[in-house]
Amino acid sequence: MKLKGKRAFIAGIGDDQGYGWAIAKALAEEGCEILVGTWTPILKIFTTSFETGKFDESRILSNGKMLELAKVYPLDASFDRPEDVPQEIKENKRYAATSGYTITEVAAQIEKDYGSIDILVHSLANGPEVKKPLLETSRAGYLAAVSSSSYSFVSMVAQFGSIMTHGGSILSLTYIASERAIPGYGGGMSSAKAALESDTRTLAFEAGRKWGVRINTISAGPLRSRAARAIGFIDKMITYSESNAPLQREMNAEDVGSAAVFLLSDAAAAVTGTTLYVDNGMHAMGIAVDSPAFIEQPEVAPV
Ligand SMILES: NC(=O)c1ccc[n+]([C@@H]2O[C@H](COP(=O)([O-])OP(=O)(O)OC[C@H]3O[C@@H](n4cnc5c(N)ncnc54)[C@H](O)[C@@H]3O)[C@@H](O)[C@H]2O)c1
Repeated sequence: MKLKGKRAFIAGIGDDQGYGWAIAKALAEEGCEILVGTWTPILKIFTTSFETGKFDESRILSNGKMLELAKVYPLDASFDRPEDVPQEIKENKRYAATSGYTITEVAAQIEKDYGSIDILVHSLANGPEVKKPLLETSRAGYLAAVSSSSYSFVSMVAQFGSIMTHGGSILSLTYIASERAIPGYGGGMSSAKAALESDTRTLAFEAGRKWGVRINTISAGPLRSRAARAIGFIDKMITYSESNAPLQREMNAEDVGSAAVFLLSDAAAAVTGTTLYVDNGMHAMGIAVDSPAFIEQPEVAPV
């Protein structure tokens, strides 16, 4: 039990399909206590589904026990303080019954409830124009993608740093579109991931010096999560990866969960500021081996 007695806050769990859920399970397997931040508009559906047993099958851990969530906090990582929330959002029916969901408020509430955390995971992203090529992305769409998907991480590190234990560990999730062109991953999301990876290095220095915490990011292979399904071409990306990656095995969320346990545990005590690829090696490829250019064409016999 590598993480017995440790406490983690995982931001970005809305169902049992995504990387955040898999990381929660992997940490719980190692004895870690799990706190969750769920996007405010889907908080009710998530907690109701959890309480009514919809996730029971995927809550089962290898020792037969169920994944328990000590507390689920509403979180909208696009906002740092209550005064940043526009009136129309405050009054929106999916927000109106909830309060305390900005990053500073959630950090303060966790400090009040638990005092400190050892682990912080950022497993969230949002790009309203993700289906548009970068050339067709509006300024507002681009800035919204960077605000929700990258600045949210800077803000979380800034607000949670002081409630993290010395030697604590912070992790985010990124994607290869930050450094290679992936048509279809638009709306400024590729730019947002590039910012996230760069910020991982700068924050590793600043937060390492300030609070003694480590900061890393996992560049994950394609997973059929809710967010990825919304982008629209996830099945093609999975097939492409299985055809072209060095390892021809199905990539699953647990692969990211176990890599996260390593980065978030003392086994990685000297690892910070790094991007770890958990993608069956896809990032290492320079060509698509299933391209028609590399496949032997049958010779056509002369008529
Ligand atoms: N699925 C993939 O193929 C893939 C590949 C590489 C990296 N990632 C990254 O993994 C992370 C998790 O995504 P996932 O694919 O597991 O999908 P997911 O749908 O499980 O997780 C994304 C979560 O972000 C939440 N969210 C969106 N906007 C938010 C906001 N403003 N405040 C708080 N929460 C917000 C959503 O409600 C959702 O729960 C993301 O950073 C994503 O970019 C995913």
